[in-house]
Amino acid sequence: MMWFSTVKSLAIVLALGASVLAQDSSHSLVSRRLTEYLMPVATQTHEFAHVPNSNFVLLTQMSNSELIKIELDSTTEEPIAFHSFPMGKNSSTSMLHGVWPSTVYPGMMWLSLQGENKLLLVDPGKKLSAAPIIKKTIDIPTPGNGPHCVFEIGNRVWAGLKVASEQTGKYYVFSADVHNPKNHTLYPALNSPVFIKEEPTTGLIYVTQDNDSSILRINTTSGETKQVHVPASVGNNAVGMISATGPLSGVWFTLAGNATGGTGTFGHIGPSGKMQFFKLKHPLLGTNAGLLHIADASTAAGPALWLLSTSLLSTNSPDALIRVTFDASMKSIADEEYISMLTQNAMVHRILPLNHTVLVSELHTFTLAQLSYRNTVAGKWLPAQAVTNTSVYTEAS
Ligand SMILES: *[C@@H]1O[C@H](CO)[C@@H](O)[C@H](O)[C@H]1NC(C)=O
Ligand SMILES: *[C@@H]1O[C@H](CO)[C@@H](O)[C@H](O)[C@H]1NC(C)=O
Ligand SMILES: *[C@@H]1O[C@H](CO)[C@@H](O)[C@H](O)[C@H]1NC(C)=O
Ligand SMILES: *[C@@H]1O[C@H](CO)[C@@H](O)[C@H](O)[C@H]1NC(C)=O
Ligand SMILES: *[C@@H]1O[C@H](CO)[C@@H](O)[C@H](O)[C@H]1NC(C)=O
Ligand SMILES: *[C@@H]1O[C@H](CO)[C@@H](O)[C@H](O)[C@H]1NC(C)=O
Ligand SMILES: *[C@@H]1O[C@H](CO)[C@@H](O)[C@H](O)[C@H]1NC(C)=O
Repeated sequence: MMWFSTVKSLAIVLALGASVLAQDSSHSLVSRRLTEYLMPVATQTHEFAHVPNSNFVLLTQMSNSELIKIELDSTTEEPIAFHSFPMGKNSSTSMLHGVWPSTVYPGMMWLSLQGENKLLLVDPGKKLSAAPIIKKTIDIPTPGNGPHCVFEIGNRVWAGLKVASEQTGKYYVFSADVHNPKNHTLYPALNSPVFIKEEPTTGLIYVTQDNDSSILRINTTSGETKQVHVPASVGNNAVGMISATGPLSGVWFTLAGNATGGTGTFGHIGPSGKMQFFKLKHPLLGTNAGLLHIADASTAAGPALWLLSTSLLSTNSPDALIRVTFDASMKSIADEEYISMLTQNAMVHRILPLNHTVLVSELHTFTLAQLSYRNTVAGKWLPAQAVTNTSVYTEAS
């Protein structure tokens, strides 16, 4: 038995060695690693964003309304230090939530105080220990309530209002001119708006709603809104959304699933307005994935996406970072690379791709995880190719 299994694993090694690891006799080690960085203890570690042209990342902790400023090593991008700042009037009720870089005001960052019904534009400061300076405050007008994620699109700031209105019991999406916040609109939404993105060809705004399995479409010129329902047959609860250009052009969104698990499904809406769905194939980590967030992973080698599966809604879904590439027609998934998170049940929340590494936030464990590669790049990790290449298995057995 022993002899047989040794021969068998030798055969696998030989098959892989001969067909896949075509390297010269002196080898540099190829590695892929995840490192976890502990943040201050809090029950809800929420959104995070890179401050453009700096070595800082800002991370929000909602349960204690603290903004964590994290300094990255300028070469390796490794987090090296942090400083924490209270935001808002009251650590237990202000509920710091969203964070997003401003383009209109370069270097400034938008924040949302969900419990105070306010958006803030802050100067995060050039030093790690410098407290953020508030440059502008925008009050969410009634009947709006509870700004969650905040975004800047063109010259307007947007926020999904997560909490049912005290006046009407309804949910809204807030939009205001950044220079003149009195010029604002509240668009009626379903329970409850999260990500807000622009489809680049049509200029239409799409909004995910995490409790009604429907995507809101807004024409800002006419003010017209429409609900586009996610067919129950593919899954439910659209959450993460990005706007992408180039071969990925359009908006891309993920389905987070529900308490029974996810379906490993994400979708695309292009200029036609039609939803197109893609489903992960990996039986262990892919088909039950509860996809909460998404980021562009495209490189010179081609279009690609990062997807984040989370245990937030169901422990049947793994905590995993997944990279997918597409076939030439962009009609189906070509390859799937899986990076299982170090801590399962961490309820991973958001993905932030940097220049050479990828950061993932963990809602439940107040941790940031960082993925990095040596002597290879994302998408070229060989075992993932071997797994999808049945001829490798056929040869090996
Ligand atoms: C990445 O590169 C850009 C431009 O080369 C730079 O502005 C930015 O600060 C770099 N670092 C991170 C973490 O993105
Ligand atoms: C913060 O809000 C809580 C709940 O309303 C209240 O009990 C507490 O006194 C407030 N703290 C401060 C410093 O105002
Ligand atoms: C409101 O702002 C938008 C741009 O954000 C602009 O096109 C529009 O004319 C403004 N409306 C008024 C009444 O100022
Ligand atoms: C969805 O909304 C209902 C009604 O407000 C609430 O009871 C439920 O907890 C929400 N579910 C999720 C997953 O947020
Ligand atoms: C948005 O509404 C305007 C004004 O009614 C209309 O001209 C435009 O075609 C609409 N945009 C799209 C993409 O439907
Ligand atoms: C959860 O989602 C599945 C489909 O993925 C669906 O069959 C099921 O009815 C949903 N459960 C609830 C409580 O909505
Ligand atoms: C699968 O592996 C075989 C060698 O074992 C190789 O010839 C073939 O090109 C691979 N196919 C793909 C799609 O990578």
